[in-house]
Amino acid sequence: MTDFIGRDLDQLDTPALLVDLDRLERNIARMAAFARRHGVALRPHAKSHKSAGIGRRQMDAGAVGLTVAKLDEAEAFLEAGFTDLFVANQVVGKQKWERLARLAQRGTMAVGVDDADVAAGIAAAARTVGATVDVVIEIDTGLHRAGVLPGEPALRLAEHIALLDGVRLRGVFTHAGHAHGAHSPEEVRRIGREEGLKVVETAELLRQRGIACPVVSVGSTPTALISGAVAGVTEMRPGNYVFYDRMQLGLGSATPGDCSLSVLATITSRPAADRVIIDAGSKTFALDRGAHGIIVRAEGQSDPSVGERLRLLPNHACTTANLAECLLGVRGNRVDEVFPVIARGGGR
Ligand SMILES: Cc1ncc(COP(=O)(O)O)c(C=O)c1O
Repeated sequence: MTDFIGRDLDQLDTPALLVDLDRLERNIARMAAFARRHGVALRPHAKSHKSAGIGRRQMDAGAVGLTVAKLDEAEAFLEAGFTDLFVANQVVGKQKWERLARLAQRGTMAVGVDDADVAAGIAAAARTVGATVDVVIEIDTGLHRAGVLPGEPALRLAEHIALLDGVRLRGVFTHAGHAHGAHSPEEVRRIGREEGLKVVETAELLRQRGIACPVVSVGSTPTALISGAVAGVTEMRPGNYVFYDRMQLGLGSATPGDCSLSVLATITSRPAADRVIIDAGSKTFALDRGAHGIIVRAEGQSDPSVGERLRLLPNHACTTANLAECLLGVRGNRVDEVFPVIARGGGR
């Protein structure tokens, strides 16, 4: 993979995933500055890039650790030297609890929970190996994916966890992923405020009942600057912000000049005036409008010919990066760094 370094973009075979390093570093620095200004810990979601080199830049900018979605990501990042990880997801099954407990012997490990039996299973596995796993209660603040409802349901789970040996309650977390489907900036702001307020209120309830709740964690890229600023929030976990993408442009979270991930593709056919075929389809862009690498040319645009190259912004950067073996970090027109994508695909 080091073969790529020093190459000019026109020497690269396509399709290739490019990361504009100046934009990437600016995105990382901006989010870190926001978190610092608001006194909030930044624990970026690494599933967006799955790259040690990008994770390292986030840590160097002041992140307290990384968030991951699955155990294989936790294992890969721990192997790469990241020792403070939060699996912000439900981890279910004896085999996985044993893996989690073993990871907790090698680093600081936290995991999401929304179920009393799962918490008990994690605690039993942790006791068996003599480790302690931090657990963070997932609160559903509107996404309606996993998570217990704010308030009393969260309190009941916290009271159960407080009685278990082998786990330690770190706090509460939520992910306002429904903001990705918002229809206006006002809706994003409303979702972001709710995301923050509901977890803060739940944390307060736990504390009133004598249960320590040091971490109050929120996180999505569209809502980051809103929920991250809600008083009482202590941690934020945006992921996509390192790259941004066309979805974020549509939501108003970013401008085209912020988008750092692009696909370099070659035009392979021009069968009709209104059709451009490229060598990148749904196995390069995960969230394509079609699976066939066809671009329906908008009127008034230039008229590119076969062999020309295009640099295209993906609709969803995180799923696009997950499909690539490596991302090529470029400055100007030259490849400066190669980021192998670790724990890619739909692993365990
Ligand atoms: C639990 C959790 N936290 C944080 C994030 C990061 O959100 P985003 O990709 O909008 O930055 C995600 C993304 O799916 C998530 O599932």
